[in-house]
Amino acid sequence: MVSYQKKPENIRRVLVTGGAGCIGIAVCKELRKRGLEVHLFDLPEQIMRMRKAIPDGAKICYGSLLDISSIREGMDQCDAVLHLAAYLGVRRTEMNKLRCLEINVEGTKNILECAVQHQLKKIVFASSSEVYGDPEKNPIDETTPVHGKTVYAISKLMGEELCKAYSQRYPNLQFVILRYFNAYGPYQAAQFVIPKFIQQVLKDEAPTVNGDGMQRRSYCYVSDTAWATVEALLLSNANGQVINVGNDESLIELKELAHRIISITGKEGKIKPVFDVDFKNADRDRTREIVERYCDTRKARTLLNFHPKVSLEEGIRKVIESETLFEQWATTELAY
Ligand SMILES: NC(=O)c1ccc[n+]([C@@H]2O[C@H](COP(=O)([O-])OP(=O)(O)OC[C@H]3O[C@@H](n4cnc5c(N)ncnc54)[C@H](O)[C@@H]3O)[C@@H](O)[C@H]2O)c1
Repeated sequence: MVSYQKKPENIRRVLVTGGAGCIGIAVCKELRKRGLEVHLFDLPEQIMRMRKAIPDGAKICYGSLLDISSIREGMDQCDAVLHLAAYLGVRRTEMNKLRCLEINVEGTKNILECAVQHQLKKIVFASSSEVYGDPEKNPIDETTPVHGKTVYAISKLMGEELCKAYSQRYPNLQFVILRYFNAYGPYQAAQFVIPKFIQQVLKDEAPTVNGDGMQRRSYCYVSDTAWATVEALLLSNANGQVINVGNDESLIELKELAHRIISITGKEGKIKPVFDVDFKNADRDRTREIVERYCDTRKARTLLNFHPKVSLEEGIRKVIESETLFEQWATTELAY
């Protein structure tokens, strides 16, 4: 693989779909830090909910991926799009398959159609480690065969193929596909594991671990995920590539994660994790559970010079801090 060499793109103004989401807010902040103009596109209710967290200077664009005229308005004068908006959540997407396919497949097609019409130079598409399903071996590199176990995974694979197809037909539109592995941070919806454990522990409740707690994951703090996303946008090194983005230094078992959060909040001895062995209250049912999934990030290191900076402990502390500052977000689950 070629070694890292910086090849900058000429991009000044960027549309960020899902810009008021957990990763989107961090991405918009990173773009602003680098002096780029940001058009933040998201559903009106999400923008209203997140308004305190939206970075200064971002132009707010209310709209839906299913509404072409709002996309066109948001995209006006932009050079590129970071396409992060999606319908997500394991149980939610399984219970609303059609909605998931509409937003993640039709919505992505709408973004690509408009990108071509507006002569955008580049799209960075937020895909997911979920496309690898239950992999035969870990860590997972980008050559690992994909295996869609869920409608969400299939919708992300469709999004990836749409990006490749549009770029093939319209070569002036470059693409980069990023497969995020377990990003976490402030404003993440309450059914994801880190905000769920934090909320339970802060309320002196026992964190509920699904299954036996031996599931292993690597968690990546959003500012690191956002940094890699902006590098993928601004460097031509990444064009036409599929790249894993995660933190390969923060591999941890679920039950250990629960203990870590208890310890960080100083509640050792007061509470202990409880195990929901039958996945009765889990977002993901037992048959959909992935035992082990963590990433090989050599490609991101080589192409983007990506080295995650925030340790799991530091990241958890940052989420707890934001939880106490901004109490509204964490109590909110993704609406069905
Ligand atoms: N967080 C992770 O661990 C993770 C892992 C893999 C992939 N991803 C992908 O990264 C992206 C961002 O995820 P996130 O964690 O920030 O989730 P999030 O739910 O916080 O953000 C998604 C955003 O998309 C917006 N959205 C949903 N439907 C929309 C529509 N019809 N029109 C416009 N906006 C709409 C939501 O309002 C929300 O702000 C998603 O594409 C997700 O699939 C995230």
